[in-house]
Amino acid sequence: LHETCHRMGKLRILVTNPEVHQKAIELLQERYEVDICTELPYPTREQILQRISGTDGVLWCSKVKVDSEMLDKAGPTLKVLATMSAGYDHIDVEELKARGIKFGNTPYVLSAAVAEVAVLLCLATARRLHEGRLKIETNNWESYRPQWLMGQDIQGSTVGIVGFGGIGQAIAKRLIPFEVKQIIYSGHSPKPQAKEFGAVFVSFDELLRHSDFVIIVCPLNEETKGMFNEEAFNKMKPNAILVNVARGGIVDQPALYEALKQGKIFGAGLDVMIPEPLPTDSPLLSLPNCVLLPHVGSATVKTRTAMAVLAAENIIAALEGKPMPAPV
Ligand code: DGY
Repeated sequence: LHETCHRMGKLRILVTNPEVHQKAIELLQERYEVDICTELPYPTREQILQRISGTDGVLWCSKVKVDSEMLDKAGPTLKVLATMSAGYDHIDVEELKARGIKFGNTPYVLSAAVAEVAVLLCLATARRLHEGRLKIETNNWESYRPQWLMGQDIQGSTVGIVGFGGIGQAIAKRLIPFEVKQIIYSGHSPKPQAKEFGAVFVSFDELLRHSDFVIIVCPLNEETKGMFNEEAFNKMKPNAILVNVARGGIVDQPALYEALKQGKIFGAGLDVMIPEPLPTDSPLLSLPNCVLLPHVGSATVKTRTAMAVLAAENIIAALEGKPMPAPV
């Protein structure tokens, strides 16, 4: 097939997942020969390795790592790789750059959906959703006690956002109507957009010390890996709620478990953890003050469709020699 495609002059695209939205597939099929990894529930590394050779572009929708082995296998025809995700910690960007392969991701289109999940986790954790459900299930409903299951308010709180990019800003926009007292944020440098939200740039240390809600939305990289460790939890307020909608690796999970267990912080709401899927014997599952979601931040019909289309548009632009709509 590869040879026939190249002989016919049609570029060949590999889509690494059978569930990428049809709209994106059609955009690609109008222009290219499209090969789709069809294995369900998702193709393995081996299965992708078997199909990637001789491709001109890849729509990458997989947690499998893109590294030099994968790129060697793809070979010198590969001109563009577009990941259907905002995060790209599973992709060796340096290696792509070194080989002159263009690379794009899908930011912005998922900001609202991920921000909605961040708000959901703030509310669910602050109001002890998981614990309340457990109380009902175990016949321990004691609402006649006025101090029973008391939670934390978003109203009047200081919200600390770690990473004030598109998603961080979308979260701020949604939390302001809850009448928060102040939004603070940390990161590399102050963002001009912060003015719009009255958000104040602070050091990571200050953010930990002052926030009632700490929301992680920064990328996972060497700098952020494990930055929420024992030392960080020791600096947080005892009423603080940690929400993570970024990557599990940013949090030292055993340290988080201890912080939650010992009541160093009030609770945690996590859409991401390590590993994913989380094993059913994970200690996190035993904590009433930990609300867990199975990494569904961007999982809405509209958002996943938009992500697929943007990934396809990245490929098309790169192959047509035009600026990609979302280059990395
Ligand atoms: C993203 O887009 O990075 C989401 O977390 C899905 O992996």
